[in-house]
Amino acid sequence: MISPLIESIDQLRRQLAAEPSSGTIGFVPTMGALHAGHASLIDRARNDCSRVIVSVFVNPLQFDRDDDLRKYPRTLDADRQLCGSHGVDLVFAPAVQEMYPTPLACRIDVGALADHLCGKFRPGHFQGVATVVMKLFQIVQADRSYFGEKDAQQLAIVRRLVRDLNVPTEVVGVPTVREPDGLALSSRNRLLSPDERELAPALYVALSEASRQIAAGVRDPASVRNAAIAHIPDHQKVRVEYLEIVGPDDMQPVDSILGTVCVAGALWVGSTRLIDNIRCTPSS
Ligand code: PAJ
Repeated sequence: MISPLIESIDQLRRQLAAEPSSGTIGFVPTMGALHAGHASLIDRARNDCSRVIVSVFVNPLQFDRDDDLRKYPRTLDADRQLCGSHGVDLVFAPAVQEMYPTPLACRIDVGALADHLCGKFRPGHFQGVATVVMKLFQIVQADRSYFGEKDAQQLAIVRRLVRDLNVPTEVVGVPTVREPDGLALSSRNRLLSPDERELAPALYVALSEASRQIAAGVRDPASVRNAAIAHIPDHQKVRVEYLEIVGPDDMQPVDSILGTVCVAGALWVGSTRLIDNIRCTPSS
């Protein structure tokens, strides 16, 4: 079974208005090229809610590089198949013109939440994410909205967006789904060549080392960081963009690891940029 497709905002609104108001709507926003990571968000929503809506929209506003936007995999038919097999009631996949008929005058400012990690290296990215997520929240008006912990900074920003702007949806964070070798599933993994795919798990290996260090009682972020980066192979195709230790909610670097932290990294493997993170709590 393939999930029904709606491409227009008006049509989606009419369809939602025509359905009974009892029951809960679960919403999973995505950029498509769906994989088992997205499926775990969908399954969680399916389990919690009476209706599940998935959006598929490659949002130009959040891309800081044209080539990344151009290369981003687009697989709508396969996405609808995956959605159908996971019981999604409706796929909302608007065209760019439908979401942005005129240039935006208003955007969501996420302030210091975007100062570090990906925000530091992708100017405007999180403003673009927050703006499209806010638009999607307004369009779908879901009771619960599901986001992956894989994108920790995005999840922290969405939680804050909902709190600061009183959006009537409950944000649910879902654990990261990984390949057996630890590589976090990502739509961008399919852009890796076979030799790059072999190098890609290095990010998770480094984060796991950071986690071990923290569990062993190391409190100094620089020491943890150095020990983690030592696990990244010295290879011409591999480059660490960042590896930082931040507070799990404010996404600001910590001076000392005293409570739960988020260790997050971005690794370039060839021309593909991979991100991942893990939460660590020091033993007292
Ligand atoms: P996208 O990268 O398609 O991811 C959609 C959702 O799936 C996000 O909440 C992301 O964290 C989650 N996800 C991706 N890989 C995952 C994995 N391996 N395990 C668990 N969850 C995973 O994130 C976006 O799209 C966009 O920025 C979006 C929020 C849709 C706004 O455009």
